[in-house]
Amino acid sequence: MDLELSGKAALVTGASTGIGAVIAKTLAAEGARLMITARRAELLNKVADDIEASGAARPEIVVADLTVRDDVDALAEEATTRGPVDILINNAGASSPMTLADSTDEIWDQSFALNFDGPRRLTHTLITGMRDRKWGRIINLSGSLEPRVLNAAIAYIGATHLWSKGLSCEVAQDGVTINCVQPGRIKSEQIMERMYPTEESRRVFIDANIPIGYFGEPSDVANLVAYLASTRAGYITGAVIPVDGGMHYYGH
Ligand SMILES: NC(=O)c1ccc[n+]([C@@H]2O[C@H](COP(=O)([O-])OP(=O)(O)OC[C@H]3O[C@@H](n4cnc5c(N)ncnc54)[C@H](OP(=O)(O)O)[C@@H]3O)[C@@H](O)[C@H]2O)c1
Repeated sequence: MDLELSGKAALVTGASTGIGAVIAKTLAAEGARLMITARRAELLNKVADDIEASGAARPEIVVADLTVRDDVDALAEEATTRGPVDILINNAGASSPMTLADSTDEIWDQSFALNFDGPRRLTHTLITGMRDRKWGRIINLSGSLEPRVLNAAIAYIGATHLWSKGLSCEVAQDGVTINCVQPGRIKSEQIMERMYPTEESRRVFIDANIPIGYFGEPSDVANLVAYLASTRAGYITGAVIPVDGGMHYYGH
């Protein structure tokens, strides 16, 4: 199936590693022109090198910390100045598991900025051009809504789903779709290095929670994201779609 992404302009946040890097490479392989952003310039350059080496156009790079309002506004300004953005992938994010004793306002504020308010501000700026051009795709990487511990990110994932669904109604007749994709446990820095650093910790979680029996690959998510970003998915909006090997069956 031709996804008809050739020539479309896409902005991918959190593209320095993990799922975001693979989304960027997948969209580039489908012919999209890319702007990629995160905090670590050297990793963004490595992703851009890989994309260029594959024969696709080298992505533009913008270094930004999405917990900093000025960075979010500068990114939106840079993206609109360099040309209209057709596809926005709000992928940057981080889990914030904690106990009540560890819970501080600073953690909640940082998590809010990264997992909800940064993507919301970026979207609200870029969506105007999409509506004017009568075509746009916004995809938010969210996550499971079945917390096993106190986790600020999960609270803001809930906010993302509700904001996204509400906004999707307002812009539906302008050719702009907004959807959320919920990764379950996908191999990335966050999962393999921070949350489940040992084979035993992975096995214990998988046996208790993932019917398919293994952690997913970033490409399992990127393939769905590329489809949702395409012209082919024009009748899908306001949706929240899990990519989790059946993990949501264990929701409580
Ligand atoms: N992997 C999973 O199983 C899983 C499960 C549930 C939800 N998710 C969600 O899916 C998305 C991708 O996850 P992942 O596992 O690929 O994560 P990851 O490996 O930790 O990568 C996160 C990306 O976000 C960027 N980022 C983090 N903080 C940032 C900040 N303050 N400003 C700008 N960029 C920032 C990171 O780049 P820099 O460090 O270079 O800034 C990196 O590119 C996230 O939203 C995550 O919450 C993933």
